Amino acid sequence: MIRRYDYGEPIPTGAIELPQPVCTDQMPRFTVAQGEGVLTFRLTLEEDDLIFGLGENVRGINKRGHIYRAWNSDDFAHTEDKRSLYASHNLVLFSGSRGVFGLFIDDPGAVTFDMGYTRGDEAVITCENGSCSAYYIEADSLIGAVKEFRHIIGRSYLPPKWGLGYIQSRWGYRSADELREIARNHRERHIPLDILSMDIDYMERFKDFTWDKQLFPDLKGFIDELRADDLRVMPIIDAGVKVEAGDPTYDEGMEKGYFCKKEDGSVFVGAVWPGHAVFPDFLREDVRRWFGEKYHGLMEAGVDAVWNDMNEPAIFYSLEGLEEAYAKADELRSRNIGVYDYFDLKDAFTGMSNSMADYRRFYHELDGKRYRHDRVHNLYGGMMTKAGAYGMRSFAPEKRYVLFSRSSIVGAHRDGGVWQGDNNAWWSHILLNLRELPGMNMCGFLYTGADLGGFGQNTTEDLLQRWLQLGVFTPVMRNHSAMGTREQEIYRFRNWEQMRDTLTVRYALIPYLYSELVKAAVKDDMLFRPLAFDYPRDKQAVRVEDQLMLGGACMIAPVYEQNARGRYVYLPEDMLMVRFRSAQDYDCIPMTKGHHWIDLAMNEFPLFIRKGQAIPLAGGAECVAAIDAKSLTLLGWLEHGTAFTLYDDDGECAKIDLEAGLTLVDVQVREGRVSARADGLTLDTARIVIG
Ligand code: GLC
Repeated sequence: MIRRYDYGEPIPTGAIELPQPVCTDQMPRFTVAQGEGVLTFRLTLEEDDLIFGLGENVRGINKRGHIYRAWNSDDFAHTEDKRSLYASHNLVLFSGSRGVFGLFIDDPGAVTFDMGYTRGDEAVITCENGSCSAYYIEADSLIGAVKEFRHIIGRSYLPPKWGLGYIQSRWGYRSADELREIARNHRERHIPLDILSMDIDYMERFKDFTWDKQLFPDLKGFIDELRADDLRVMPIIDAGVKVEAGDPTYDEGMEKGYFCKKEDGSVFVGAVWPGHAVFPDFLREDVRRWFGEKYHGLMEAGVDAVWNDMNEPAIFYSLEGLEEAYAKADELRSRNIGVYDYFDLKDAFTGMSNSMADYRRFYHELDGKRYRHDRVHNLYGGMMTKAGAYGMRSFAPEKRYVLFSRSSIVGAHRDGGVWQGDNNAWWSHILLNLRELPGMNMCGFLYTGADLGGFGQNTTEDLLQRWLQLGVFTPVMRNHSAMGTREQEIYRFRNWEQMRDTLTVRYALIPYLYSELVKAAVKDDMLFRPLAFDYPRDKQAVRVEDQLMLGGACMIAPVYEQNARGRYVYLPEDMLMVRFRSAQDYDCIPMTKGHHWIDLAMNEFPLFIRKGQAIPLAGGAECVAAIDAKSLTLLGWLEHGTAFTLYDDDGECAKIDLEAGLTLVDVQVREGRVSARADGLTLDTARIVIG
């Protein structure tokens, strides 16, 4: 059951695709109060209430005990003290003795979720705009609540199948020759690879929709050459457009009045990678179309994958902010400054980036109305995703495209994926990567993953190896690192062969992952679920923070600690542990419900398959196009036989016909012998274990 309540004058965000009638009665369970410019929803928490949701965010899977703020932020240190990351995924579900219920706050401004932080027994949600549409959700189960919510927000974006391939990326790859070299180093060593991303360095002076003609003298020829080797490129597009007369994007945008303006009508200028930059008003549909059509230039050269960045929007400084900081320095220069003056001086410079003062300096137009940026801040990134998606769809309507963004809001899940932003080469960030997944899935963001190995700081061979072992399961599987950090391509490390073997497991699992991803999108389901969603009555399962259910049949439990050679795992039911070393080399060990220590050498990682379930495994491949999805080995633990449906299609048609793509795989167990049947598939049941 979903009930919509409107307070004040809600700002339209486009999150909801199926409009709901507005209720006029009192909202159940929550005490709602309006006053002093804010709107609050209060709920008394019971001792055992669990809280799920809030999408891409810091801390645990169970969000209780901290305070979070929906305020899309360019943050490069995802530490526990933070309240905001890059996204506003304003869905929160409560589960306990009162059943399952929750709220979705549809508002593009700042919203604070105090989840038992100020008082351990109270949840307080505060909309700083003082208005919103709030959707009260009640269901029999957590997954039921998610499905109802997902139904009204519309179907999730789906990448083509090749979007599940391994992506090698680094901020600092400069030229076609350097990218050729990276590709060669993978192919020569048989390290699977599908996509190379191109960070800002491919552009001419960081100008969107340009490429450096010296470093990429023949972009189309270069892309064709890679395509012949089943490789693709994925260029970045940033939100800020360089201020440079003569640049077509800048000139046209200025002429048509497409960039955000200040109160006095002049164009707002902030600095990002290109130096002084202006910001397209993505909240306007005409601007989205114009910006989206700019993608066509890249697509004409053969590009069909793009990442959108810096779209919170990130602003290093504004002209005004810089002036204010200089003025502060001038004021203090002539004095013998005290310690508080010193702090003021320091803050004037360090607080210049992404400042609230700047977010109050410019305006947007949304549905014909003017809004100051801070009131609609969280919409910016999602609307940029819409612009990119419009561009890619209008260029090749019959095909799917790869698009992911850094900043997001519910609604953008229909147009693209997201990656988890600038994490660090920290062990704790493997766990954070895992913990963010279910919340993002709840809000429809299925195509997601983190920078494997860590973006900031220097990675190490063991950290990268363990992180890849989680990345094997995430739809976006990308190794990305920041300029100035240690080189992070797999082949730079002593243990590269083991990491290559890890990647073979990813490629072997693609038929299963793709099938589950498509099913999750079409059926409004989650790919990754907290154990609480599947085992709500199991008191131990509901509080597990380092394992997730994956698709219908599996559970993952990665190693995320330095020097560990195994881990404790909780099995909520009997399961088959598949301990992988490579796609060809693995052990299958039936295990009983309960706590277990499992040994995992550095090159080993587990996948647990539920008893009575089976999953398919393909043979080796170095790119998605080479996967033989017709010849599959089944893995599983059967007692009474099982059946599952596998989805497949050509991997890129824009229209998904779920029914047409499903194949029933019927596994029979008779007198201790197993056989499996499915139309059009060759199935090897050698790895089926019979209980
Ligand atoms: C931002 C992005 C990062 C990228 C860098 C340079 O920090 O999050 O992925 O490499 O900008 O473009």
